Amino acid sequence: MSAYQVIDHTYDVVVVGAGGAGLRATLGMGAAGLKTACITKVFPTRSHTVAAQGGIGASLGNMAEDNWRWHMYDTVKGSDWLGDQDAIEYMCREAVPAVYELEHFGVPFSRTEDGRIYQRPFGGHMRNFGEAPVQRACAAADRTGHALLHTLYQQCLKHEATFFVEYFAIDLIMDADGSCRGVVALNLDDGTLHRFRAHQTVLATGGYGRAYFSCTSAHTCTGDGHGLVSRAGLPLQDMEFVQFHPTGIYGSGCLITEGARGEGGYLTNSAGERFMERYAPTAKDLASRDVVSRAMTIEIREGRGIGKGADHIHLHLEHLGAETLELRLPGISETAKIFAGVDVTREPIPVLPTVHYNMGGIPTNLHGEVLRPTGENPDAVCPGLMAIGEAACVSVHGANRLGTNSLLDIVVFGRAAALRAAEVLKPGTAHRPLPRDAGDLALSRLDRLRNAAGRLPTQSIRLSMQQTMQSDAAVFRTEASLAEGVRKIGEVYDQLSEIRISDRSLIWNSDLIEAFELENLLDCAKATIVSAEARQESRGAHAREDFPDRDDAGWMKHSLAWVDDKGKVTLGYRPVHTYTLTDEVEYIVPKARVY
Ligand code: FUM
Repeated sequence: MSAYQVIDHTYDVVVVGAGGAGLRATLGMGAAGLKTACITKVFPTRSHTVAAQGGIGASLGNMAEDNWRWHMYDTVKGSDWLGDQDAIEYMCREAVPAVYELEHFGVPFSRTEDGRIYQRPFGGHMRNFGEAPVQRACAAADRTGHALLHTLYQQCLKHEATFFVEYFAIDLIMDADGSCRGVVALNLDDGTLHRFRAHQTVLATGGYGRAYFSCTSAHTCTGDGHGLVSRAGLPLQDMEFVQFHPTGIYGSGCLITEGARGEGGYLTNSAGERFMERYAPTAKDLASRDVVSRAMTIEIREGRGIGKGADHIHLHLEHLGAETLELRLPGISETAKIFAGVDVTREPIPVLPTVHYNMGGIPTNLHGEVLRPTGENPDAVCPGLMAIGEAACVSVHGANRLGTNSLLDIVVFGRAAALRAAEVLKPGTAHRPLPRDAGDLALSRLDRLRNAAGRLPTQSIRLSMQQTMQSDAAVFRTEASLAEGVRKIGEVYDQLSEIRISDRSLIWNSDLIEAFELENLLDCAKATIVSAEARQESRGAHAREDFPDRDDAGWMKHSLAWVDDKGKVTLGYRPVHTYTLTDEVEYIVPKARVY
């Protein structure tokens, strides 16, 4: 392949990423007898799923009556009618067996008095088609992601999957016929290069929160899968929809779970007013995240923020009492102490809307197959390539995700991808020969960055990107802020040609790896801000002050963004699926979204 020594591997399936989605897919594929490799840049149980707190949504009805159709309605409404209703039906129906499967796998859920899985209220989850909050979030205290991730990893170990830990994927191997044939990765421990050949490559690489300055995302959330597909000439979808979680700790951005409000916590402004009652009279503090984040931003803008700078909001938990806090919210009690110096049994936590989740990502169908949309067929598939979890856009979250639907998404679609792979692949099927140049693109990318001797260190380019995204692609957006953002991100992108790599070693924590990640992040940032500038309406998390209304006639469509190797973004659109999967439920007709 080149001057580098490359080690070849052959698998039926290669999964890239070992968060909840990657592990659920890995275990399903291994269980189906497929020779499966899972390559991951961090040890599996350090993946960002570990940070998920409040719960996984499923209409078990353990606390009061519930119904998957209500869950579907809430998810469609939460998505502001940008979600595909066939996929949402699939996810909400599958939620109940998915959670029981997790229980049987060994997830240590919290329990009710009579031994059932404990469920708490969460934003936007309502009973009887929007009437009042319902308890739907199945919780393991406030460490649900931690419990889930460890359990899935243990289950994976029961099957034949092989883990390649601390391997970083550089590029996909694409064939001339447009199919994906595998991936090239770098072993971060010893600097060796590896070419993985697979019939299916599954991207489970998570989101790109680190394109922003302040986020709840781990440092590893660098849009690596997004970068891989962009460089393969495939589009990203709905990237303008970036979720701000209402309660990141002021200053540090650490997550304080929405489960805190589910347990009875509430927000106040500088006048001590519970202002959410004005913005969402029924759901109040449990309205969906975009609604609460906008309300908080308005309170601050209008001078009712807290603190010297009048620049944050208070989250009160004191009234819940030490016993409930210890039982239900032990993790965030500790986090508040460490990162805000607050004893939650006595004082409120200073909080601020903080970047938390990417609704957009790699477009897929509900089997996890990556789409390569064409004019004739907007649902055409790219053979050999799948994406799942936050990296993907199925689309079940549309313009705004409901809390608890991300843990649900990862297990439901991780399993769906495994089922699809088992359906289309026979274990041990012989591989076609790889193209002669397989992997060359990855190696030339490696060479280019290793030898980059410009004047700008990686971290200075990254900081410029993060500051631009934070100020110009924020909770509220205008033509002016977005046009400025497009211009500035363009300049930052161009700085890549002047990057300087000071530490060229091929191992973890080197400057080189951060430069790879920065290139991935910049593809995401570009796609986000260009798609946002183009969308002239307000929908879910995309709030345009100059276009305050949702425009279903003009804009009920998914954005597609192709980012080329010069950072040029070409936009296109594909229709939202306005049909259900079965006739057991009817299409939910768009209407005004009030909580
Ligand atoms: O607030 C939280 O616990 C986050 C959950 C989620 O994003 O689904």
